[in-house]
Amino acid sequence: MNASPIAELDLLLGNALSEISAAPNSAVVEQLRIALLGRQGTVTAQLKLIGAQPPELRKEFGAAVNHVRDQLTDALLDRSVEIKEEEQQAQITAEKVDVTLPGRGRHKGSLHPVSRTLRRIEKIFTRAGFDVAHGPEIEDDFHNFEALNIPKNHPARAMHDTFYVSDETVLRTHTSPVQIRYLETHTPPVAVIAPGRVYRCDSDVTHTPMFHQVEGLAVDSDISFADLKGVLVFFLEEFFERELPVRFRPSFFPFTEPSAEVDMGCVFCDGGGCRICGHSGWIEVLGCGMVHTEVFRQVGIDNELFTGYAFGLGIERLAMLRYGVDDLRLFFENEVSFLRQFA
Ligand code: DAH
Repeated sequence: MNASPIAELDLLLGNALSEISAAPNSAVVEQLRIALLGRQGTVTAQLKLIGAQPPELRKEFGAAVNHVRDQLTDALLDRSVEIKEEEQQAQITAEKVDVTLPGRGRHKGSLHPVSRTLRRIEKIFTRAGFDVAHGPEIEDDFHNFEALNIPKNHPARAMHDTFYVSDETVLRTHTSPVQIRYLETHTPPVAVIAPGRVYRCDSDVTHTPMFHQVEGLAVDSDISFADLKGVLVFFLEEFFERELPVRFRPSFFPFTEPSAEVDMGCVFCDGGGCRICGHSGWIEVLGCGMVHTEVFRQVGIDNELFTGYAFGLGIERLAMLRYGVDDLRLFFENEVSFLRQFA
């Protein structure tokens, strides 16, 4: 037996309502709206059947179909609104920012301690009237040795563990060749420092194959050893920001005569004697002297008219003394935890 048309409408309504409430998104709701209420929709088809009902059923059937249509229209609308809210809620959850999370932060970089030390040295000497010059790291034998009064087979060459690029070309073993290059291109009076990398075939706790030096040179008509002493004591006291005992010990360098090595009172024990100064109370910091007449001859300067002084210091060494670093290699390993301490 066929169910009555009204009972079929009830069934249609029940099924449609559960489908609508199960619709997962707006697209499915729209599909259902078309399938039920669209031009070809099942409910629309029922509306068209009203006139085909027997007269005694027509009014009841018409009211029932209209009721179904209104119910479904409302249900579809309600479900769309619900879905909109669900989607909005999901979006809010997905885009949520946890303001209580700790920030990732940014680390500010800092200058390498060698660069810092060099800048400090340059600042002090430029205040004292020195220019800053640079020379090539790949240097010829003439500038690195010959013109500095270190001829071939001179025993002083053995002190420089030289990296040879070719027979006549080396990685400069010191910054002293910049003295020569500067005097080749400038006429006295001159006062200049020349910082840069130097290379020696040597590697242990206190030596690295590459390190940094600053060369100093002043040439004028009346320069004396007293000027050299004055400028170096000034420099050391500025650099270490304190008064320091400084002593000049006679020494030998081929390119200066007389030559001296400079010691300063140990900054770690104030001269009392400690492990760092070898219990002597003194720390050697640089080499210096009066420019040798042979150097002047090589660059064509009349040594009857001019005198000059020169000095050479190691940047890492000064950085170690200033910052209390006891292993030279730390400057080249570039451990971030070490470098950060100079920020
Ligand atoms: N060139 C020397 C070295 O590398 C350092 C030096 C000593 C430079 C005495 C000078 C000087 O100008 O007068 O060990």
